[in-house]
Amino acid sequence: MSGRPFVVAIDGPAAAGKGTLARRLAAAFGFAYLDTGALYRAVALGLLRAGNASPSESDATKAALRLDHQWLASPDLRQEATGNLASVVAAMPAVRAALDAFQRRFAAQPPDGAPGAVIDGRDIGTVICPGAPVKLFLTASVAARADRRRLELEARGESADLARIAAEIEARDARDAGRAAAPLKAAEDAHLLDTSDLGIEDVFMKAKAIIETARQARG
Ligand code: DC
Repeated sequence: MSGRPFVVAIDGPAAAGKGTLARRLAAAFGFAYLDTGALYRAVALGLLRAGNASPSESDATKAALRLDHQWLASPDLRQEATGNLASVVAAMPAVRAALDAFQRRFAAQPPDGAPGAVIDGRDIGTVICPGAPVKLFLTASVAARADRRRLELEARGESADLARIAAEIEARDARDAGRAAAPLKAAEDAHLLDTSDLGIEDVFMKAKAIIETARQARG
């Protein structure tokens, strides 16, 4: 077994099930988990709390450099408004650069001496960890993702309009995939997993098998 931490990079569009899968894989292998979307969301939340709903790149970059990691635990991170502004600031190259070092350090030295890291986002396999031994790209139809988001919102007691959620998901996909800076796309060597018709258990078993094979190959 090599001493280098084993990195599992998981990318994909909003609400494809990345977080649920990443948490389960991290628990199964004793790896650390980093939700990089939370970093962009925390930047957005800091700006919103400061009353700045349409920040310049310079304002957003300052917020990213001063990121208060305590906010990574805030439930407000999950609000739609936070997610929408996160997607706007994530298109700004200087904001991405400000968050880059933290993510690379996490991959190189996972906290608590964990032997590996599961990192999810949009550009983990392409930009942050291009040498990751396992790259997964999770997709699902807009309808399947909107339906999952609706169930999540309803479980939290929030109102949920399916057509509006689907429109927001499509707008977010277009922004994340269409931007010039680190657009959402699958790495050439990523395993594509379409979760539209697969339950979480099936997705988990497939991903687990891919990781086990890659760990054996690494020796
Ligand atoms: O995964 P999420 O919905 O929590 O991400 C919030 C936004 O942050 C999303 O619209 C895209 C952006 N993001 C990104 O550009 N790069 C990442 N590695 C993670 C998230």
